[in-house]
Amino acid sequence: MLALYRKCPHLGCQIPPLCDKSHWFECLCHGSKYTILGEKRAGPAPRGMDRFPTSVGSDGQYVVSTGKKITGPPIGTATFDTRDTDKIPHCTG
Ligand code: FES
Repeated sequence: MLALYRKCPHLGCQIPPLCDKSHWFECLCHGSKYTILGEKRAGPAPRGMDRFPTSVGSDGQYVVSTGKKITGPPIGTATFDTRDTDKIPHCTG
């Protein structure tokens, strides 16, 4: 499980839910694009999406610690989706 912070690391706009065309997160403000893992693929953002620590509590419940933000991965991180940005459809320009 991964708990991504939907505040864009560029200038702080709220990132909408996953785009159903690219299956990426696409910021409507200035066009930054992130894979489903929050890794940056396009736009002016300085890094990937920030995230929150997660754990499983003693009761088996999934816990997201929203008080401790983890800085998103640096530009160039590509651990999963390496599709070419220019060759897939997008929800934003
Ligand atoms: S605030 Fe998201 S790209 Fe600028």
